[in-house]
Amino acid sequence: MNGTPPQVVDRAESINWFRQTRRRTADLFGLLTPEAYYEQPIPLRHPVVFYEGHIPAFSVNTLLKRGLGRQGLDDDLEVLFARGIDPPDTSSADGIAIESWPSRRAVKQYADLADEAILDALAHAPVEQAGHPVLHRGQAVFTLIEHEELHQETLAYMWHRLPMSRKQRPATAVAVTEGVVAEPNQVAIPAGRATLGAMLDEIPFGWDNEFPRLARDVPAFAIDTHNVTNRQFLEFVEAGGYTNADLWSEADWAWRTGAGVDHPPFWYQQGGDWFWRGMFELIPLPPAWPVYVSHAEAAAYARWKGLRLPTEAEFHRAAFGTPDGTQRSHPWGEAHPDPTRGNFGFQHWEPVPVGSYPAGVSAWGIHDLVGNGWEWTSTVFEGFPGFAPMASYPEYSADFFDGQHYVVKGASPVTASGLVRRSFRNWFRPHYPYVYAAFRGVRAVD
Ligand code: AVJ
Ligand code: FE
Repeated sequence: MNGTPPQVVDRAESINWFRQTRRRTADLFGLLTPEAYYEQPIPLRHPVVFYEGHIPAFSVNTLLKRGLGRQGLDDDLEVLFARGIDPPDTSSADGIAIESWPSRRAVKQYADLADEAILDALAHAPVEQAGHPVLHRGQAVFTLIEHEELHQETLAYMWHRLPMSRKQRPATAVAVTEGVVAEPNQVAIPAGRATLGAMLDEIPFGWDNEFPRLARDVPAFAIDTHNVTNRQFLEFVEAGGYTNADLWSEADWAWRTGAGVDHPPFWYQQGGDWFWRGMFELIPLPPAWPVYVSHAEAAAYARWKGLRLPTEAEFHRAAFGTPDGTQRSHPWGEAHPDPTRGNFGFQHWEPVPVGSYPAGVSAWGIHDLVGNGWEWTSTVFEGFPGFAPMASYPEYSADFFDGQHYVVKGASPVTASGLVRRSFRNWFRPHYPYVYAAFRGVRAVD
């Protein structure tokens, strides 16, 4: 033993992880035909070009400027590409004219320079400095790489919205629609403790909203063992769930009627038949896939069934709790999140039938808590008591503590495996219809 604290950042590993992440992003952009580059697949978001510049500019802003106190590479681009947008509706989306975005060549040139500078810093610069606000435990290194991983999911759900003619399907993209059909079932979870979040030095890296640890005593409840499927949700549609105002909160009803929403956003109806609007093709609606819906639709379905959405603490109990009262790192235990544990980490572009990963079930026999779609909770996104904004990216969470976002937990098919950890929290607006978000119902029991 010597007196030096253990280093969190391993330079070789970080370089590897950075390169792999850059490669996956390049592959994602490689799926698109050139005309998609200045298109805006989601009206609330910037066009595609923004994201190819935003990812490297964010890395430069975070590690080189904020962390190491160096100069950037191009001040104009680093302002233009600094941040994305999250407006409540299209009327408040940004008004940057398409012609004023830089050429693809200019963006690519900038990204190549940025990659070189980041790789050089990862190899040689003092990227881990104990006590430094941004570089303590290498915070900026993790921040920039995980930020890119988060955006890979943003890109994927944006690409899902583009017409099929804008995408080239890789030979490996095969939708898995057949599986064991799970019987709707619930399991009772006795009252017990759930530990949310983590202590700062307990994990190598977490985003600011994951700290500090928060213990919650959760009353007994019963929860669906599987996510609600397309087949089940179709019953709700056919029973008139979308036209029964009693099932919707006032705000959700106003959104539904205003936006004319009458079916899930990934569904498409043609000649009386329902299809799933996949990444590369229309697929006859796979009955066994989890339905992806907004928070509003999930809550309405749950109410129709006499259920409600789980709280974040209930999700933790169901996912990480055990009958003997101990808590696990993952639903399946302590083992590393490998591809046998759930549909995450880019194994698929779409969901797979619910219950396809028996090696991922929780101690209570609950399926797919991590993977195959984020899980909506009824918990409004906010910081845990003692929250402090992170120095490498102080706006990351705090800008969204506005009562307008709900926590989602778990992971989707295109959530990188590195983001699979108990404390990770994601969040979306309740009426944001594009995301890979599934749900299950809960009810109180004595
Ligand atoms: C954490 C997924 C909600 O996409 O808005 C990326 C991630 N923040 N760049 C988002 C994020 C800034 C964020 N989510
Ligand atoms: Fe971003």
